[in-house]
Amino acid sequence: MATILAAVERGVRLLDSATYYGHDHHGLKLLAKVIKRVGREKLVLSVKFGGTITGKGMEHHVGRKDVRREIETTLAVLGVEYVDIFVPARVTPETPIEETVDELKALVQEGKIRAIGLSEASAASIVRASAVHPIACLQTEFGPMETSIEQNGILEACRKNNVLVLAYGVVQHGFLSHKGLSPWDEFRDAASRAFYPRFHKENYEHNQGLLKQLQRFIEQRQLDISISALAVAWVMRRGGYATETDPRIMPLLGMRTTRSLEDNIKAANFVSLMSQLDADALEQTLRAFEIRGQRYPPHVMRGVEQ
Ligand SMILES: NC(=O)c1ccc[n+]([C@@H]2O[C@H](COP(=O)([O-])OP(=O)(O)OC[C@H]3O[C@@H](n4cnc5c(N)ncnc54)[C@H](OP(=O)(O)O)[C@@H]3O)[C@@H](O)[C@H]2O)c1
Repeated sequence: MATILAAVERGVRLLDSATYYGHDHHGLKLLAKVIKRVGREKLVLSVKFGGTITGKGMEHHVGRKDVRREIETTLAVLGVEYVDIFVPARVTPETPIEETVDELKALVQEGKIRAIGLSEASAASIVRASAVHPIACLQTEFGPMETSIEQNGILEACRKNNVLVLAYGVVQHGFLSHKGLSPWDEFRDAASRAFYPRFHKENYEHNQGLLKQLQRFIEQRQLDISISALAVAWVMRRGGYATETDPRIMPLLGMRTTRSLEDNIKAANFVSLMSQLDADALEQTLRAFEIRGQRYPPHVMRGVEQ
């Protein structure tokens, strides 16, 4: 809560949550408290819906009835008249994307949501969805360790359909920071170690190589920036932030501490200061390193359109 309030104080406006974050709508309830403290008008509220946590992992249901039920729950728990962006958490084989978006379009017309987002949708789904109603944004993993949207047509589909990419996983659960430079058995996030293939022992040790190269990059240039902030700055620059001509990618960052918040704010300042020479060298460093391990385990990847 303190970190969210500090973020709003520092000018952050977009807050992203989900109906399934935490037990008994804990994530939404936290947002409701923030809304009461700072006022609805200061915030851009983005809420993902349609996910259920089961004993076997996540299940997703995004049919018409699910859309209706989830918006009513969201508005009631948040205590607001509308949310700014409502986002089906996944595209599922059971429900054509046109059906989900058509129901969301009705919510726009009723004033219950302002805009429609997507999450982990393929290029084809982005095109199909955009034919029903403009899509404001796509949540997908993108950053120095994950650039697949550049190759699989997703980034191009976003560009052509005027969809902003909200890049998550930028700092890879804290791996892309000094924390990731700890030995595998000391990497503080044990849950990440076990869950994400990228952090399984052999992959972790290999992927540390990228961290070491980034640290060297910073030291050689005597840059006053952390590894994490460099990763955030890379995404912002790649997204057109420095030139403001093509702002197509924006980082969507998770953090619990004001320390990380301040560090990430620094990234925003750094991005416009980075020289073209340094930006090119950083690009080369990142592109030359082969990341080992998938971003999610296979059973989760099956739910991610590519
Ligand atoms: N659409 C989807 O399927 C999907 C999936 C996952 C996430 N998301 C969205 O994306 C948001 C971000 O989640 P994420 O998975 O991408 O998390 P993340 O940003 O990869 O990792 C968050 C972790 O990184 C650490 N961190 C962040 N900035 C740092 C810094 N400057 N220095 C050191 N450590 C830093 C934080 O540490 P501290 O806690 O210590 O501050 C936090 O524990 C979520 O809140 C959610 O809204 C969407």
